[in-house]
Amino acid sequence: MTALEAAIGVVYLGAAACFVLGLHLMNAPPTARRGNALSAGGMGAALLATLVLVVAQGTGPTAWAVIAAGTAIGAGGGLLAALRVRMTAMPQLVSLFNAVGGGAAALIGGFEFGARSDPGAAVAAVIALDVVIGSVAFSGSLVAAGKLDGRLPGRPVLLPARAVLTALLALAAAAGTVLVAAGAGGPAPLAVAAAAALLLGVVGVLAIGGADMPVVVSLLNACTGLAVAMAGFALDNSMMVIAGALVGASGAILTKLMADAMNRPLSAVVAGGFGTGDGGPAVGGGGDVQRIGADDAAIRLAYASRVVMVPGYGLAAAQAQHELRELADLLAGRGVRVDYAVHPVAGRMPGHMNVLLAEAKVPYERMKEMEQANPDFPRTDVALVVGANDVTNPAARRPGTAISGMPILDVDKAETVIVIKRSLGHGYAGIDNELYTAPGTRMLLGDAKEALASLTAAVKALVG
Ligand code: TAP
Repeated sequence: MTALEAAIGVVYLGAAACFVLGLHLMNAPPTARRGNALSAGGMGAALLATLVLVVAQGTGPTAWAVIAAGTAIGAGGGLLAALRVRMTAMPQLVSLFNAVGGGAAALIGGFEFGARSDPGAAVAAVIALDVVIGSVAFSGSLVAAGKLDGRLPGRPVLLPARAVLTALLALAAAAGTVLVAAGAGGPAPLAVAAAAALLLGVVGVLAIGGADMPVVVSLLNACTGLAVAMAGFALDNSMMVIAGALVGASGAILTKLMADAMNRPLSAVVAGGFGTGDGGPAVGGGGDVQRIGADDAAIRLAYASRVVMVPGYGLAAAQAQHELRELADLLAGRGVRVDYAVHPVAGRMPGHMNVLLAEAKVPYERMKEMEQANPDFPRTDVALVVGANDVTNPAARRPGTAISGMPILDVDKAETVIVIKRSLGHGYAGIDNELYTAPGTRMLLGDAKEALASLTAAVKALVG
């Protein structure tokens, strides 16, 4: 090993330490930004070290032009997309970035296979697995991004003879992998395996409903990590092995946590066919629904001693986090105790609500996880539900519904529940919310941002 290679090895080790420490810091909202910056710093150092290695290898002008163009397009496009994205569109951006990762890992595998005259059975097998897993992650993530963005139908698309088609594609991918590992047939089996894997990603993810997409994105993210680690083995690059393994492991853990929080076995998610994918139509007024105006709601809030804010996807869609915090501050200024109850899958991606509330400068100690918040609802005067639906639906407590068994926020145990949303329409799971007809519930129909602003104005007018 040369001195340069040793120095690069040390930088890679430092970068790996940054990734691990960064992940650890991302555990809690107050340190998450630092964790992100540390991980990004580690990745920057690893990239620079790799560039030095490329220079030392005497790379020609064509290769430099390719590297420069790739960096400009990749880094420029990524930066622009990340700067422009709305918080509600973050899941599809994550999915697009994941597609790029999976595709890159598969391309590296394919290139490495072509560049070696005799890779040996072990390396050839790793390359084939890298290409197969990376290809599934690439096409699957593109379809997931299309569904999340509304460019593809959110409902499960079940192609005719899907089970047979899936089995045939899986068989072709496996057969191609075995032939590559055995060194038979040249590049053709690898191409067949890659094509089958690409189709497998499309067929598999098309069949899954939009509501399950974030779990699928997380699962495909774990696949990308695995593919990158395998590409690292093929290239003998320790940095790729470590980074890929970390992405693979954290993606797998996140997938499990999300599936548990939605009470959906991962096997059922992958099998597909569940849900409508889009919010259901408005079911209209009537029934025993009791409405409330901003002035009456303001009286209940201003004279409460304990209020719990319950934000959901609608708050994110309306970008009403600042208005929510303003109202909470106003009430807290009057001596009302105000907390925020955050369900683990409120919104459309993990941590969605915590990030939004942190952005609006809600104090971290006021954000309560579901387990912390639920025992407090029986002692709560008003639970103010803003654009949250499924995560508050008592129907989850009994069997036979689409969300049966999903842990919920027990808002119905508060003395009064005020729900802000635009209509009596469904949430993501597409079922009626029994909370809306409960005796203690009052519906304040309107856009979250406007309704919260009028509530704040009404409280101000009330208390002078
Ligand atoms: P949802 O059940 O989807 O309900 C959101 C509600 O917000 C809708 O009923 C909608 O009603 C209302 N809304 C939309 N725009 C609004 C606006 N501008 N102003 C006021 N209200 C608005 O959301 P949730 O309670 O947060 O539950 C999350 C759902 O997503 C769960 O089913 C969960 O399983 C699923 N999910 C979450 C995740 C993660 S990780 N977070 C992952 C996968 C799936 P109107 O149309 O009547 O206004």
